[in-house]
Amino acid sequence: MTTKQITLSVIGVVALGVLYAVFGLPSVSDAELPTDVEAIARGEYVYNAGGCGACHQPEGTTAPIGGYVIEAESPFGANTFHVPNITPDPETGIGGWTGKDFLLALKHGRSPGGSFYWPAFPFRSYKDMTDQDVLDVGAYLMSLPAVKNEVPDHEMPAYQFRLMMAGWNIMAGFMEGTPPAVVEGADDPQMQRGIYLARALGHCGECHTPRNGLGMLQMSQEFAGVEGLSPAIDTAGWSTDEFVGFLQLGMTASFDFVGGEMADVIEHTSLLSEADQAAYAAFFTRGEGESSGAADNFE
Ligand code: HEC
Ligand code: HEC
Repeated sequence: MTTKQITLSVIGVVALGVLYAVFGLPSVSDAELPTDVEAIARGEYVYNAGGCGACHQPEGTTAPIGGYVIEAESPFGANTFHVPNITPDPETGIGGWTGKDFLLALKHGRSPGGSFYWPAFPFRSYKDMTDQDVLDVGAYLMSLPAVKNEVPDHEMPAYQFRLMMAGWNIMAGFMEGTPPAVVEGADDPQMQRGIYLARALGHCGECHTPRNGLGMLQMSQEFAGVEGLSPAIDTAGWSTDEFVGFLQLGMTASFDFVGGEMADVIEHTSLLSEADQAAYAAFFTRGEGESSGAADNFE
């Protein structure tokens, strides 16, 4: 058997084994989607902080009409994802979604019909979003004009089916592990906010944290970089001001401008409040951490 076949059988067995146990939908709050202007404004901010547009809103469009293509080499084979339309169009978008639907999708990777999303949708990071942020971004999306835009189905090998994600989700819960603890300043509200932004909403680890053979993030190596995809987030030698400047302009402490996918990320981090940019900086330039070593940088 090739490694791929072994991997597949492992997944198959596990998926079947746990299928019964996980068929039910996780219980989430029945909260209604807010409709007030404050919630919608907060939701627009969450949309930017969460980088939703980087995937859902193709360049030159004004709404998350989808259509952007993500090519991913997964443990199961080559996948081509067509990012869905998340405007409130009832036929081609997410018209009629409730608060519960958004909570299930973003925090559990489950669709309103109970099906499973692929992790190309970074719900393993968004699972730690607050319910309020999820409901607010839902309120914002539902306030947008509905745009009809039919997006093609994903292209993937026939043996890859959504129910596999039942097993994958459960295994990921055990196998991702926990990120290195933030020791110094962990109780500080700014540090807490930085942790939330980097790990949950900003999903920095989705590109910068290595994955195991099943495509699950390896949190013990958080932000250590992924060969062929992304460098380590190594802020040794960066001041907090330099990190804030990076989030605004995409220029590193050694005066290089980042390109490619990171430039898309900067497009949304540049829209954040100064307080949130400073929170990111507090987290990434803290004295501890496996890759930081930036203790000397506190000014
Ligand atoms: C890295 C790319 C990426 C980012 C960032 C991203 N999404 Fe998605 N999203 C996807 C993909 C891919 C799917 C389809 C998953 C599938 O079909 O299994 C998806 C699916 C969805 C769905 C379900 C749509 C449907 O028709 O069932 C919703 C809702 C959604 N995303 C909202 C969001 C929100 C809100 C954010 C920001 C907080 C966000 N997404 C950020 C890639 C992304
Ligand atoms: C979609 C994938 C992706 C996401 C999400 C992402 N990055 Fe990156 N990042 C990259 C890539 C690719 C590069 C290399 C870009 C280059 O060299 O032009 C990079 C480069 C960087 C660098 C420069 C490293 C160096 O020293 O050269 C930093 C710092 C960084 N990212 C921080 C972050 C932070 C903070 C977040 C979350 C807000 C984040 N990244 C989210 C893909 C990503």
